[in-house]
Amino acid sequence: MDRIRIRGGAPLHGSIPISGAKNAALPLMIASLLTDETLELGNVPRLADISSLLRIMSNFGVDHTIAGRRPGQTTETGQTIRLTSRAVIDTCAPYELVSTMRASFWVIAPLLARFGHAKVSMPGGCAIGTRPVDLLIMALARLGATIEIDGGYVIGTAPKGLKGAEIDFPKVTVGGTHVALMAATLADGVTVIRNAAREPEVADLAACLVKMGAKIEGAGTSEIVVTGVSRLGGASHDVLPDRIETGTYAMAVAMTGGDVVLENTRPELLQFALDVLQQSGTEVTPTFGGVRIRRNGNGIQSVDVTTDPFPGFPTDLQAQFMALMTRANGTSRIRETIFENRFMHVQELARLGAQIRLDGDSAYVEGVAGLKGAPVMATDLRASVSLVIAGLVADGETTINRVYHLDRGFEALEAKLARCGAEIERLRG
Ligand code: EPZ
Repeated sequence: MDRIRIRGGAPLHGSIPISGAKNAALPLMIASLLTDETLELGNVPRLADISSLLRIMSNFGVDHTIAGRRPGQTTETGQTIRLTSRAVIDTCAPYELVSTMRASFWVIAPLLARFGHAKVSMPGGCAIGTRPVDLLIMALARLGATIEIDGGYVIGTAPKGLKGAEIDFPKVTVGGTHVALMAATLADGVTVIRNAAREPEVADLAACLVKMGAKIEGAGTSEIVVTGVSRLGGASHDVLPDRIETGTYAMAVAMTGGDVVLENTRPELLQFALDVLQQSGTEVTPTFGGVRIRRNGNGIQSVDVTTDPFPGFPTDLQAQFMALMTRANGTSRIRETIFENRFMHVQELARLGAQIRLDGDSAYVEGVAGLKGAPVMATDLRASVSLVIAGLVADGETTINRVYHLDRGFEALEAKLARCGAEIERLRG
């Protein structure tokens, strides 16, 4: 199994190209199941999760081609994937495939909307908590699907098609909103989705669906109105920049000190997190097509944060911010309100010398003068990258095990950091 070895201490200088967002690319790929025409997606990151979803889609009979590199593209930039769901031969997503990636459960929406039936394995538990799918099922039932749970599978039927409805989510759910949105595009009549997730990835999915012929208003706000159409067509769409990758490298620069321009991204996608970084003593300057992150000389100030749905502080940056706070002056309280078990990185950061006390949904991080390298591992992707950030300033050598977690969500991580001066390498085997 591959490992990543880091020698801490080098400040970061230079530029890093930001990839397309994994969490936008996945629902966009799934949306291709809504049409028999070709959906072309550009700026798709090269990630293990993308390959896993392609395998699941191939199982349904979806054809795909991956376009070669465009002139000027490097392996650090995205690929173009064309998906055609003309000859769908199966509407069952088995446990072996769905359990490798939770988001694949979302295929249930387009399958039900277009074919009137779907059988998708329940995704099961995962490293960051129980993560139920009850609200996704509720949304489909509201749209008129008959839902049965049998042998670990959710079996949905709607032989006469879905019907527009009012869907009130009692809690903000990104996956629930994606599912409701996709299903409603082909439902008969008007659907109103209330307390919808406002995440940019939802707005990106809606923008692509509109290009495919869907009628959607209000995506990106908490009330989305969808007027169903009888069919959707092909389209071409570029995946939006990855705000979590942007925030991760911004925190890495805040941690090591230095001066880095993050390219091909949009600061407004993560304004809250960038404001927090500024409060911690890092300079954040929007540039043409990106954002410049700089910390020279001054120390890191502790800041309290609470994770919240967009536009709040993202749970997917909580671990990385905690790594930064391990070196701050003072104590920071970090409250996790989205997932109940998203503190696995705490024990591993402690192995590097961090002082962190857990109390319910909060972590109290007392900044220390220095971290010391050690072998570490983590059980999810954002936790793993928080260890990379800590390793970048730890004295001596840090080895991150279970690199496959990083490969699920960070394209060319070592190359992007190494080009800015980090001493980081992948050890194969
Ligand atoms: C998406 O997961 C992201 N995944 C997650 O990113 C991200 O952490 C999360 O949204 C929150 O921003 C993808 O986009 C592929 P939710 P999702 O439904 O949609 C509860 C990463 O590292 N809930 O918004 O699964 C749930 O337990 C990943 O890239 C229910 O109770 O998250 C949680 O407490 C990890 N019932 C809250 O809602 C349901 O039916 C928000 O979850 C569904 C969710």
